[in-house]
Amino acid sequence: MSNKDRKPFIVFEGLDGSGLTTHAFDLHRWLKERGYEVYLTKEPTDGVLGGLIRSALKGELKVSARTLALLFAADRTQHTETIKRLINSGVVVISDRYKLSSYAYQSIEVDLDWLRKINEGALTPDVTFVIDVPPAVCMRRLQKERFHTELYEDMETLERVRENYRRLAEEEENVIIIDGNRPQDVVNREIFQKIKELELLEGL
Ligand code: TMP
Repeated sequence: MSNKDRKPFIVFEGLDGSGLTTHAFDLHRWLKERGYEVYLTKEPTDGVLGGLIRSALKGELKVSARTLALLFAADRTQHTETIKRLINSGVVVISDRYKLSSYAYQSIEVDLDWLRKINEGALTPDVTFVIDVPPAVCMRRLQKERFHTELYEDMETLERVRENYRRLAEEEENVIIIDGNRPQDVVNREIFQKIKELELLEGL
């Protein structure tokens, strides 16, 4: 297969309540409307490992910070196989969270170099959009939408994760910060424009 057939792997990142899931969905729909085959996916996945992670996030399963980091990495290892297969067979893959989430969240308690090591087999996405929204706005949205609180969903943690994302955007490849504190259609237009400018897809 020629390299021309390989389609991009696009990732959305951000704080809980930043709207990253909405923007990932909107890009997926926009590309589909333009005739591309698109697979929208997320981490933690819906698989068995993703289920374990969800239990840990809800506090039902007690695990250490390092164990949780390994669970995310294991879930990602399996997920990466699927992503590779799809992009190599002509499908655009959009993931709601990927390895930058591990670096931004788990590095609060766990050494970042070790996190990079256990995620060594993960892909470098063609582009990662970090949807940047002030933690206070995210918290208000989460309080409206949820009846329970998960791990990481407090102001102090969200502030730290935001700082981590900003630093990682400088350190990691192909990361773009998008101001997500604007109307949904304005944010979407900027994302669509970036996708065009990056020339990741022929014919856009
Ligand atoms: P979600 O609410 O966007 O589905 O994500 C679940 C939570 O898991 C969210 O707080 C971010 C966190 N997370 C990590 O801490 N590390 C990771 O590697 C991933 C994928 C998510």
